[in-house]
Amino acid sequence: MKTEVLTVDPRHPDVTVLRRAAAILRRGGLVAFPTETVYGLGASALMPEAIERLYAAKGRPAFNPLIVHVTGEAQARRVVAGWPEEAEALAARFWPGPLTLVLPKPGHLPDIVTAGLGTVAVRAPSHPVARALIDEAGIPLAAPSANRSGSISPTRAEHVLRTLDGRIDMVLDAGPTEVGIESTVVALSPARLLRLGHVGRAELEAVIGPVSDETRAASDEPASPGMLLRHYAPEAVVVMVARGDARALAAALAGEAHTGAILHSLPARGQDQIRLPDEPAAYAQGLYAALHQLDERCDRIVVEAPPESAAWDAVCDRLRRAAHADDDTAPR
Ligand code: TXA
Ligand code: MG
Repeated sequence: MKTEVLTVDPRHPDVTVLRRAAAILRRGGLVAFPTETVYGLGASALMPEAIERLYAAKGRPAFNPLIVHVTGEAQARRVVAGWPEEAEALAARFWPGPLTLVLPKPGHLPDIVTAGLGTVAVRAPSHPVARALIDEAGIPLAAPSANRSGSISPTRAEHVLRTLDGRIDMVLDAGPTEVGIESTVVALSPARLLRLGHVGRAELEAVIGPVSDETRAASDEPASPGMLLRHYAPEAVVVMVARGDARALAAALAGEAHTGAILHSLPARGQDQIRLPDEPAAYAQGLYAALHQLDERCDRIVVEAPPESAAWDAVCDRLRRAAHADDDTAPR
């Protein structure tokens, strides 16, 4: 299959381009599109055969459920079996935006979308291209991150092509995404945080009260099936050094032919060392592009550990998963 790449203006996407993409989706095809978090790989959430194609294109394990993307509350209510007060309050505060809600699944939604679970994840993205595409297609879109399963999520169209070129129908290229890491996932009711993201636990609690943290649940049976410990990982081995520890960095870099580094307080030297901003939102925005770039050239990536404060939680979570080897003794 040839993957068509179409450039669109991120704020005012060309309606003729959107119509072509929407037509592919309505026929059961696969279109990668930008959201404010990462690029998603869209398929009609109402067509089991489209979802089968999506799982095959990603090489995604059948046990890992998808997020259904909608334009807002009205459409969300049609793909869930219940809309509790907490959903109402969270959607009013954070939608459209980087927050996914896990709610009871209605019988009419194909089981394959939720990997057979009794719940469904829904989110209304804020990116104008995502919103316009869902609107134009007129159907809710199941959309996991647009990468082969287990690899780093894409924040640019070129990242999508790195692993999905020739496996999907189309990519809408609207430039780099803003948030840079995947949405916060929260299950209701009771409220349980399943994946850390741009919307923090304290922000959720300010709206709905106590939210239990299940983001560190045991890796073999996580509350959210996609949260495998080794995930969001480049092919290169990722090793962490303490923040500001120039000596540990030098030691980690020494003697290795192809070692890159992602830093934020220490200075970067040479083309394989990338310095990201020393601020969590801007760091998150650039993190995956840095991992993609270094993964092309390096066998090892040394990462300077960010501060251990709540504002850095989501970033630290992704780094921990990237650094987690399946088997600590075996080289990868
Ligand atoms: O920001 C995002 O959420 C991006 C963009 C494209 O919207 N999407 C994304 O999708 O990251 P994906 O498929 O890569 O991650 C979805 C996560 C997985 O960890 C999955 O297990 C979890 O959401 N999830 C989906 N449905 C669930 C459910 N019913 N119960 C618990 N977890 C669920
Ligand atoms: Mg993913």
